[in-house]
Order: sequence, then structure tokens, then C-alpha cells
Amino acid sequence: MLSVRVQDVEMIVDKIKEFCGNDWKRVGVRMKGSLMSDISLLNSTNDMILSHSGKQLRPMLSLLVAKACSGDSVLPEDSIRVAAAAELLHNATLLHDDVADESDVRRGNPTLNSLMGPSVSVLVGDYWLVAAMNEIQAAEHFGPRLISIFSRTLTHLAEGEMLQLQKARSGDTVEEDYLRIIFSKTASLFEAAALAAAISVNAGAEAEEAVRKYAVSLGLAFQIRDDIFDYSDDRGIGKPVGVDIMEQKITMPLLGAFRNASPEEEREVRTWISSIREHPEYGSEIVDFVRSRDGISYAEKRLGDYIGAATDAIAGFQKTRSGRYLEEMAHYVAERRI
Ligand code: IPE
Ligand code: IPE
Ligand code: MG
Ligand code: MG
Repeated sequence: MLSVRVQDVEMIVDKIKEFCGNDWKRVGVRMKGSLMSDISLLNSTNDMILSHSGKQLRPMLSLLVAKACSGDSVLPEDSIRVAAAAELLHNATLLHDDVADESDVRRGNPTLNSLMGPSVSVLVGDYWLVAAMNEIQAAEHFGPRLISIFSRTLTHLAEGEMLQLQKARSGDTVEEDYLRIIFSKTASLFEAAALAAAISVNAGAEAEEAVRKYAVSLGLAFQIRDDIFDYSDDRGIGKPVGVDIMEQKITMPLLGAFRNASPEEEREVRTWISSIREHPEYGSEIVDFVRSRDGISYAEKRLGDYIGAATDAIAGFQKTRSGRYLEEMAHYVAERRI
């Protein structure tokens, strides 16, 4: 079996794009086409967003899944639509998220929120969201089933952000709540991107279930990695760090630190979090607490468990090159530096 193991983890993304070849280019063309408007301000804004494209993991996931379920074939238009819809929807959620989180920097550049204000960011986010749904409803063979998958994801995305807010207010997040939040706000879109891609090539029930499980675990691991980054010193990830705790978000590294602390200490740290808006100086104390109680190691362990579950789920796809790239993608999510 020809191995596709890539040495430098950051090269995996480029390798996957190269492997997807013309199908990858078709996704870009579809995204651009579906965003076209006769309002010049909207077009120039969309072009600016497209020029800072990010990692584009979700459309990569869709293409690899569709190929793995169809023997590495050239893909039908429905698979391309699904991949484009996943990335359009992802960008829509970021445009909304940067308003919710009052973020000024994304992908190493100023956010639309900071350049043109929150109303523009929400409006443009809505436009991208509808562009995503237009792609899905235009899918030739499987439209109705795909629409229900993506609309369920939209429900999860909104629920996840609201539950996150609710838990930020109550300050009582436990691991089960955290997992529900990250499933809803992040993994549910990975799930839709993979499941819809399998359906677009008529994969059958067993393959659908395998890639669905893979994608959910991958998405959970992906958000845990993102939440670990937030506790790092690294300025190179293209967005600010140390912000989660200031927004009263209790994420896996802090939950891990609680496991290694006494109930009294946990109670005290939770009290700091509830008054962090009046006392921003608690922020660095909480970061120190997480580091000294080895919260990061716990988060990395849980991340590793999800990566293991993801690769197990796709063990049956290793005969195709795309199946082996799906495994590479899991390693990338575990080890990525941005
Ligand atoms: C950011 O997602 C939001 C999360 C789910 C953590 P990505 O890290 O995939 O963002 P881009 O598209 O590469 O910028
Ligand atoms: C994930 O949450 C965002 C979405 C799923 C929209 P975060 O708030 O952690 O993502 P970043 O850190 O802003 O990318
Ligand atoms: Mg957020
Ligand atoms: Mg955010």
C-alpha cells in the first residue's frame, strides 16, 4: 500500500488540495459564483473575505469523503456544491462569531466587524449563509435530504452559541456541557460536510455512518485544539489568544485543571470567572492556574482520544488514497500549529 504519510504537519493541507486537483478548483469557482451580486460594495467585501481564505478544512473534508466513498473518482457536481456550502456556511458563522466575541483580528487580518462594524458583519454573514443554502437546495439528486442535514446544523450552530452564552453567565460548565457546546458550534458542521458528501455519491448507509462518526470526532478534536491554542503564548495563529477566559468561557484546559485541584480551589477559580469583567487581572491568574495544574495535558489527552475514535471510524477506507488522506487530516488536526 502506497503510504501518504506527510512529514511536516502544515504541509498536509497543501498535499490534500493538490490531490483533489481540479475538484478543488471547482469548489473555489462555485463559492465565488454563488456570492456574485450586482451590489458593488457587497462584491468588494466578499472578495476581501475570499482573499484571506483560512485553512479551508471543511471543503477538504467533503471532497476527501466523497472520493473515499467512490473509489477516488472525479466528483459529481453535488459533491462540489456540498463542499462549497460547508465553507460558505463556516465563513458565515465566523462573521457572526466575530460580532458575538467582539473580535478584531481573524486570519492575521482585521475582521469585517472591526473594519465596517457589527451590522455589516452580521448582514454579510447572512448573505454567505443563504449562499450556502442555495448551493444545497440546487443539489440535483439529493436536495431534500441535504437541506434537512444542513438546516439541522444551523439549529445546532445557533444553539451552541446560545448555550455557550448561558453557561458563561451561570459559570457552572462541566465537561458534558462543554462537549455539547463544541459539538453544536463546531463538530456539527464537520458532520454535515462529511455526511452530505457521502450522500452526494450514493455511499450507502454503512459508509455514511462511518464518515459521520469520523467527522464528529474530528470536529470535537479540532475545537479542543483551538481551545488549547487560546492558552498558549503563541502569537502566530492569526487570532488573539487568552480571550476565552475573559469571555467567561470554561473550556477543556480549565476543566482539566479543575480535575487536578481541590473542590475549594475550583470554587474559588469559578468565583474569579464570574467577576472577571470587573476584575480583568484575574485572567492571568487563571491562565497560571491552568498551566500549574496541567490542564493542557488533560486537554491534549482528550483530544488524542477523539483523534483515535476518528481514525478507527474510517479504518475501512484505507484502500483508497482519499481514505488515507482522511487519516492524515486527523493527524493534522491533532498536531497543527495554526
Ligand atoms: C475557526 O475555524 C473556528 C473554530 C471552529 C475554532 P478554523 O480554524 O477552521 O478557521 P479558518 O477558516 O481556518 O480561519
Ligand atoms: C468557534 O468558536 C466559532 C464558530 C463555530 C463560529 P470560537 O469563538 O472559539 O472560534 P474563534 O476562536 O473565534 O475562531
Ligand atoms: Mg465564539
Ligand atoms: Mg470567536
